[in-house]
Amino acid sequence: MAEQAIKVENLVKHFGKDESLVRVIEGADFQVDKGELVALIAPSGAGKTTLLMMIGCVEEPTSGTIWLGDEKVYDNAWLTKETRKIRREKIGFIFQAHYLIPFLNVIENVTLVPQTNGVSKAEAEKDAMALLDYFDIADKAHSMSSQLSGGQNQRVAIARALANKPQIILADEPTAALDLTRSVSVVKMLKKIAIDQDVAIIMVTHDEAMLPLCDRILKIEDKKVVSQAVPENTKMI
Ligand SMILES: Nc1ncnc2c1ncn2[C@@H]1O[C@H](COP(=O)(O)OP(=O)(O)O)[C@@H](O)[C@H]1O
Ligand SMILES: [Mg+2]
Repeated sequence: MAEQAIKVENLVKHFGKDESLVRVIEGADFQVDKGELVALIAPSGAGKTTLLMMIGCVEEPTSGTIWLGDEKVYDNAWLTKETRKIRREKIGFIFQAHYLIPFLNVIENVTLVPQTNGVSKAEAEKDAMALLDYFDIADKAHSMSSQLSGGQNQRVAIARALANKPQIILADEPTAALDLTRSVSVVKMLKKIAIDQDVAIIMVTHDEAMLPLCDRILKIEDKKVVSQAVPENTKMI
């Protein structure tokens, strides 16, 4: 039986108050299991990034419940003062722009978080090399981000997101800056990671061509989250 990686119950998010109140999410309920790659879709401004940031313990919800794996992390309030620790240990983030640190080389970027978590430099580098190898960019380990192509940088960013062995990956439009071929390759890579490492991945995308590569679609509709099957047509991919 599939194991739950993320469970959200009656999640509400409002910004501001009184006349400046913005109701973004009004009672979202959904679950994502380990091994699933789920697309998150909705029009611009519908709350996709906000939802990822709440699951990632970055943005505080207004109310509701969030489970990450078997740990309840939010129940109308954070259940720990150490949201940063949860984030570092359980979550990998991938963004539209890769946000690699420009003055660190590739392997230094990938080993930064594990070393912050107390992993030794030698072990972090060994793990990082295995990841870079998996993504076919081991030969770039000592290059700077500026020397890499967009696709290579995004692969490094994915390797970095995996470096802390997260249970959950939250990807906010990871293919927005890539052409179709590279987008397909990145999304297929994410699906392989989900299966190989039993990770749950939520990927925000505006690209319909990516949907058939995902297991399921979560859609923000009327300020709630609904689950849909992916379109059948996979011919073009
Ligand atoms: N820090 C904030 N303060 C006030 N409103 C915000 C803030 N962050 C996001 N919003 C509002 O929340 C809504 C959802 O934003 P966002 O999650 O970025 O949408 P999406 O990622 O789907 O484009 C928008 O109306 C946005 O203006
Ligand atoms: Mg967004």
